Amino acid sequence: MIVTSVTGQMLSRGHEQVVYVADAPSGLRAIIAVHSTALGPSLGGVRFWHYANEDDALVDVLRLSEAMSLKASISGLDQGGGKAVVLVDAPDAPHTDPMLRALGRAINELGGRYLAAEDVGATQRDMDVIAQETPWVTGVDPANGGSGDPSPLTALGVLAGMRAVAQELDGAASVAGWRVAVQGAGHVGAQLVADLIDAGAQVVLADIDQDRAAHVAADHGAEVVGPDEILEVECDVLAPCALGAVLNTDTIPRLRCRAVCGAANNQLADEGSDDALLDAGILYAPDFVVNAGGIINIAEEFVGYSRARAEERVARIEQTTASVLDRAQTERRAPGRVATDMARERIERDGDGRRWHPGDAAAWTNGEPLRSLRP
Ligand code: NAI
Repeated sequence: MIVTSVTGQMLSRGHEQVVYVADAPSGLRAIIAVHSTALGPSLGGVRFWHYANEDDALVDVLRLSEAMSLKASISGLDQGGGKAVVLVDAPDAPHTDPMLRALGRAINELGGRYLAAEDVGATQRDMDVIAQETPWVTGVDPANGGSGDPSPLTALGVLAGMRAVAQELDGAASVAGWRVAVQGAGHVGAQLVADLIDAGAQVVLADIDQDRAAHVAADHGAEVVGPDEILEVECDVLAPCALGAVLNTDTIPRLRCRAVCGAANNQLADEGSDDALLDAGILYAPDFVVNAGGIINIAEEFVGYSRARAEERVARIEQTTASVLDRAQTERRAPGRVATDMARERIERDGDGRRWHPGDAAAWTNGEPLRSLRP
C-alpha cells in the first residue's frame, strides 16, 4: 500500500505519536506507534515481521496500535493502545542482542508512554534483552515477576465469551453439549480444545500442521478434519484461532455455524463482513472482546502479578461479551461495530482527552519501574 502522508494517516486514525527507529550499528529498523494514552500508558506487542516495504509496516503498526486501544478500553483496563513493529530482512532473521537493546533504548526514551509486550515473532528472551535497557517492558521471565505465556488466559477468555454466546443463543451460559470447530491448534487453540472438552463440548479441529492437529486431538479426544474443511463443519460455534481475515465474502456464505467466537486477531476482512454475518444470522462475538485474556493478564503485572486475580478478571469477558451482544440485539446492529463504539465511548468518557507524559508514567508506578522487574 502506498502511504503518502504519515501525519495524515495518524490524524485519520487518531494516533498521538509515531516513532521511527533506525540504528546503524545493529541494523535495527522499527516503528513504534502510540495510538492513545487517554486511559493510561499505551500497551501492545512488539511484532517482528518481514514486510514487503516500509509503508506496509506503517499501515500495520497504525492498525494494530488502534486495535490495542479498543481492546484495552472494552476490557475495562486503564491502558492505552500501542504497538511496535521491527522490520526484519527475512522471516528467520536472528534477533540479535544489539538490535534488541537498541529497541529497548528507543522504548526507554518514551519514558513509559509505550509498554512493550510479546507479539508475533517475539519470544520471552527478546523481552528479557529489551528489559536490559528499559523498565517499560512486560512478558519477561516469570522468575523476574513476569506473567509467563499468556495463551492459557487467552483461551480462558474465549471460553468466557462462548458462555455469553450460549446464553444469547440458548438461554444457558454453558457450552456443554455444543459442537465447536476450532481452526488452529497452536498455543491458544490447543488450550481452548482442552478447556472446551473439560466444559462438556464436543470438538472438531484443524491445523495446517497435520501432526500437531493429530497430537492435540489424541490428547484431548477431539475429531480432526482438514484445514480446508474446518470452516464448513456443521457446528454451534466456530472458533478461529489461527489467522486474521478469515471471515470474508468467500468464507461467510460457506459457514455452517450458529456463532463465531475465537482468539484470532482481526477475523473480519473488513467492516462489511460484520454486517454480512448479521445478515446470515450468525452471531459474531467480536475478536478484540473475547481474545483480551492475554492483555488483561499482562496488565496484572503492573500491580504485582497474581494468577488468581488475572483469571478472575479474564472471566469477566463473559459479562463484557454479553453487554456487547445485548446492545447489538437492541440496536439491531453488527456486534463488531457496537463493540468499537463502546470502546471509543469509554476512551472519550474516562480518558477525557488526557495524554500521558513520561513523568505521568513514572508516577503511575509510584516512581518504580514496572513491578515485573522487581527482584
Ligand atoms: P500459534 O502460532 O501458536 O498457533 C496458530 C496455529 O494456527 C498454528 O498451529 C498454525 O499451524 C495454525 N494455522 C495457521 N494457518 C492455519 C490455517 N489456515 N488453518 C488451520 N490452522 C492454521 O498462535 P497462537 O498464539 O495460538 O495465536 C492464535 C491466534 O490468536 C493468532 O491470530 C493470535 O494473533 C491470536 N491471539 C493470541 C493471543 C495469545 O495469547 N497467544 C492473544 C490474543 C490473540
